Amino acid sequence: MRPRVTVNCAMSADGKIASRERKQVRISDEEDMKRVHELRSRSDAIVVGVNTVIADDPVLTVKEKYVTEPKNPIRIVLDPRGRTPKTAKVLDGQAETIIVTTTDFQGSFDNAEVLSFGDDKIDLAALLDTLAGRGIQQVMVEGGGETIWGFFEGGLVHKFIIFVGSMIIGGASSPTPADGAGFLSGELKKMKLAAFTKTSGGIILEFEVE
Ligand SMILES: NC(=O)c1ccc[n+]([C@@H]2O[C@H](COP(=O)([O-])OP(=O)(O)OC[C@H]3O[C@@H](n4cnc5c(N)ncnc54)[C@H](OP(=O)(O)O)[C@@H]3O)[C@@H](O)[C@H]2O)c1
Repeated sequence: MRPRVTVNCAMSADGKIASRERKQVRISDEEDMKRVHELRSRSDAIVVGVNTVIADDPVLTVKEKYVTEPKNPIRIVLDPRGRTPKTAKVLDGQAETIIVTTTDFQGSFDNAEVLSFGDDKIDLAALLDTLAGRGIQQVMVEGGGETIWGFFEGGLVHKFIIFVGSMIIGGASSPTPADGAGFLSGELKKMKLAAFTKTSGGIILEFEVE
């Protein structure tokens, strides 16, 4: 069975996930970071796009500061052309890492396995099927907007969790939780609001995708 996919990200009150320079903005507060790390620890794999690796250089591990007995998920980077910098923290060997490319890419990375799916775009359904074959049941997608869009476009998302922080970022070109081409008005992805939690810094909304 295909893994269950949970998208988690943080956005400002005006629906942006980073500033217009596409640089990381601290939207989650410490309370929310703890929730995110607990979610990572319960996931078998965590997916980000290569632009997030280049812009933010996240390590994508679970910090002991937030979770006792942390368990690192497999770090997966969607990187069709192999643009992940050699110095990226996801290649630090601290946790298993997979760089997912399209079939044209021939290179390799230290401390990472390379898997290839699709010749133009990465075939996300095929990626999930391969992960299922390796016993992966829970996949967390952290962003950015292009990557999240790909999972929604493919009808592959089960749960969407969004932390809405108490700030405005603005900017017509600032990234949002689901960028890409977007759905047309007659094709909107319907979700059901399953839970909402007010925290000290904002609100967490949890949707089940129908
Ligand atoms: N607030 C949050 O929770 C949060 C979380 C994560 C990231 N961010 C922010 O998001 C921004 C980056 O978002 P982004 O939308 O620009 O980029 P992204 O989603 O991080 O990466 C997009 C890139 O990944 C590759 N990719 C993703 N899905 C693919 C697919 N199905 N097939 C082939 N290639 C695929 C493509 O690489 P190529 O360009 O090489 O084709 C694509 O351009 C950053 O500013 C970061 O700070 C915010």
